[in-house]
Amino acid sequence: MTRVFVLNGVNLGTLGTRRPEVYGTMTLDDIQRLLESEFPDLDIEFRQTDSESEMIASIRQAESSDGLIINAGAWTHYSYALHDALESLDVPKVEVHISNVHRREDWRRHSVISPAVDAVVAGMGVQGYVAAVRFVREVAPDQP
Ligand code: DQA
Repeated sequence: MTRVFVLNGVNLGTLGTRRPEVYGTMTLDDIQRLLESEFPDLDIEFRQTDSESEMIASIRQAESSDGLIINAGAWTHYSYALHDALESLDVPKVEVHISNVHRREDWRRHSVISPAVDAVVAGMGVQGYVAAVRFVREVAPDQP
């Protein structure tokens, strides 16, 4: 079975109530359920953490998977540690942002992790997660 890691970083546990005009009203649990119903054939390892070291441990664990989706939250914009962890990971990788980071504050326009991933999705709302998992499933080798 194809196994995909979906990792959510700092502050994403507050989705649903955090700035709904920017991030919508779906919670992370809602997003997990959406992915599980869209992709019943996949084994989805869905996680959230506010700890950068926990996030790096999860990225390393994803080495045994077929692909990784990451919404790193604000770490996106400054964490070279996440960049280096992602750079070492040899599976298809997609960076996701619910909001269109290019239409917001200047500092959100720059991602230090983008050079370490294969694709970036921003501004599609929670559908960005669906698009990212679909991409990873397409490029992942077939599992028995
Ligand atoms: C975000 C965008 C980031 O700039 C922000 O810090 C987040 C969420 C998004 O999903 O749009 O926490 O990654």
